[in-house]
Amino acid sequence: MSDIEKTLDQCRKPQGDEGKEIVEKMNKNHYEVTGWGLQMLTIEDDSQVIDLGCGGGKTVQRLAIHTPEGKVFGLDYSEDCVDWANEMNHRAVEEGKVVIIRGEVENTPFEDENFDVATAVETIYFWPDIQKSFKEIHRILKTGGQFLIINEAYPDEKNKEKNKVYEDVGNMVIPSPEELTSWLTEAGFKDIAIELEEEKNWLRALARK
Ligand SMILES: C[S@@+](CC[C@H](N)C(=O)[O-])C[C@H]1O[C@@H](n2cnc3c(N)ncnc32)[C@H](O)[C@@H]1O
Repeated sequence: MSDIEKTLDQCRKPQGDEGKEIVEKMNKNHYEVTGWGLQMLTIEDDSQVIDLGCGGGKTVQRLAIHTPEGKVFGLDYSEDCVDWANEMNHRAVEEGKVVIIRGEVENTPFEDENFDVATAVETIYFWPDIQKSFKEIHRILKTGGQFLIINEAYPDEKNKEKNKVYEDVGNMVIPSPEELTSWLTEAGFKDIAIELEEEKNWLRALARK
């Protein structure tokens, strides 16, 4: 396996010592793009929130600050990420304000209409079935609930080569705004707003159930 393959493999499912290193980098390196994306959300003091593919749990920690009377769940299919996100949020976990669980985005253990907000930061590229996952997220959101996607890449001319390497080597899907709009609409979402930061190749998408 080449270095880039190893890195992307760990981004897909961080595990072990190498995974821990990657997660620590992601906690730092995704901070700015995450802040930019989170500006789209309206979060109430008592919102019920879920961060899907939560990795090291940094976004969970940020969301918890915005929901002083609410609750934030983090979900990840990597057992190690569940441990690391629990460590990152240990005080809030002890207080029952944050819950980190192991699970798959495409098949979560939650009842219908559970959450006001769902976020997915730098993760949908790796989901085995994005369309199925969007339907699942639609199911667990309350009517009027918000789904926010934050991606540090979308297909464009300037970043074509870099993104092609990711897609080929990392077996990733880097969706365009048009694809996202179509898949979100198909899953039942409405009021879809997608914004780009062209200089940085960033994308933020907000949709409502
Ligand atoms: C690139 S990391 C991003 C982590 C975190 N959101 C961040 O911004 O730092 C992708 C994360 O999504 C998780 N993930 C990927 N596919 C998943 C799936 N189908 N179900 C649950 N978690 C998934 C991985 O385990 C990993 O922690």
